[in-house]
Amino acid sequence: MYETIEVSQEGRVALIRLNRPKQLNALNSTVAREIIAATEAIEKDHTIGAIVLTGSERAFAAGADISEMAGKTASDMIEADFFAEWERFTRCRTPKIAAVNGYALGGGCELMMMCDFAIAGEGAKFGQPEVKLGVVAGMGGTQRMTRLIGRARSMEMHLTGRTMGAAEALQAGLVARVVPDAEVVSTAMESAKLIASYARATVRTIRDTVMRAEELPLAEGVHYERGLFHRMFGTQHQIEGMTAFLEKRAPRFQEG
Ligand code: HXC
Repeated sequence: MYETIEVSQEGRVALIRLNRPKQLNALNSTVAREIIAATEAIEKDHTIGAIVLTGSERAFAAGADISEMAGKTASDMIEADFFAEWERFTRCRTPKIAAVNGYALGGGCELMMMCDFAIAGEGAKFGQPEVKLGVVAGMGGTQRMTRLIGRARSMEMHLTGRTMGAAEALQAGLVARVVPDAEVVSTAMESAKLIASYARATVRTIRDTVMRAEELPLAEGVHYERGLFHRMFGTQHQIEGMTAFLEKRAPRFQEG
């Protein structure tokens, strides 16, 4: 069904695997179109509660496809609003976990940062090397990396174009966990299965609230969170979750 990605399902979790290993999963417009189409289809599927996005052993993705971009003019880019379609990926509310082995460079690192969190292998390498190509990051790298790891570290990464290893990425807060390379996908799947075992509406609300922390001033964010918290009382999931706790049993969240 897809040319550049593979999509499978394990229980309530969808696994999207980038499948251009020879090009180190460089993100051309077909990859973008397919990842977005797959994510939007998953978003409508009530049997799926979380997504794992991964690449190959050598590369999560080595960036936007340079061969596709090289000959373009500013008019071409503005006319196409190049990369704007990725906003559709970030708007999908199903939690997305990036499972990263190998290179996550440029657009690859940016795609990882568009996910809700990342689990990386010990050999993973991250970077924003656009400076070497004479451009700025175009898929949100300067903004999301700065929010994730702070201005000093983000600035250094963007201005030098150097790569960062997994241990440093974990320490900086770019990724949530580092595990042995061979365990990256299984660890991400485990985490995704746990998320998918909870009520979808609760998970989406929590995710949306955490994402607001990147947009809102603290007082507004806290107010926003409290308003959602209040409105969750009396919902079937709040009743079931709290009743199950008091009855000392596992909750059974009914969907739909
Ligand atoms: C197109 C790419 C690519 C990319 C790798 N390839 N990255 N093709 N776009 N981003 C291709 C290579 O051309 C090569 O194809 C094959 O993948 C294997 O790569 P090698 O370079 O031979 O492998 P290796 O020597 O192991 O080096 C790996 C690497 C290097 C360090 C990751 O490939 C590299 O530096 N890639 C570019 C990384 C980068 O600059 N990314 C940011 C892109 S800009 P052939 O056919 O020769 O075998 C971006 C932001 C866009 O993402 C924002 C601006 C608008």
